[in-house]
Amino acid sequence: MVIELIQGDITTLAVDAIVNAANSSLLGGGGVDGAIHAAGGSEILEACKQIKGGCPVGGAVITTAGKLNAKKVIHTVGPQWGKEDNEEEKLANCYINCLKLARKHDLHRIAFPNISTGVYHFPKEKAAEIAIKSVKKHIKPGQEVFFVCFDDENYRIYKRELQAHTDQA
Ligand code: APR
Repeated sequence: MVIELIQGDITTLAVDAIVNAANSSLLGGGGVDGAIHAAGGSEILEACKQIKGGCPVGGAVITTAGKLNAKKVIHTVGPQWGKEDNEEEKLANCYINCLKLARKHDLHRIAFPNISTGVYHFPKEKAAEIAIKSVKKHIKPGQEVFFVCFDDENYRIYKRELQAHTDQA
């Protein structure tokens, strides 16, 4: 079991699965969602359109990765801070359900963006704590998880949180 921190653009990674912070329609958007569709090409959107009913908050669905270096994209929908109940549990479910779906498809190396911490405004510290706790609890032998931070603030928070978790272990 490996957990690593990376700063940069998730779309460049040659992992088994890249996680997308999507919305329930799965029809694209800005932020990391926009970057994944732009880099991966129209095949990803076509595959998303085939998923009838979209994806609920906290859920996860899988598609081709199109032109990306990754094998698959796992789309998950984070909670919008202040707009719904049980945001913390729903955010944890995003990480847990992505790991489960990856296992089901034999995908071992999984890269996560900082789900919900952009336009969905989840507080970054709280989101990092939930992400790290959920992954530590649910990662299985053979799985490798990469937390990919795009912005400096998230990178600093993750670095500190991961260190704190290592010290506690
Ligand atoms: N690689 C990695 N991380 C990225 C990238 C990238 N190329 N681009 C942005 N990010 C980071 C942001 O810095 C932020 O920390 O992704 C994190 C999540 O931000 P958003 O993409 O805004 O996602 P979220 O807050 O979950 O909001 C989801 O945004 O675009 C829409 O369709 C999407 O409606 C959905 C909403």
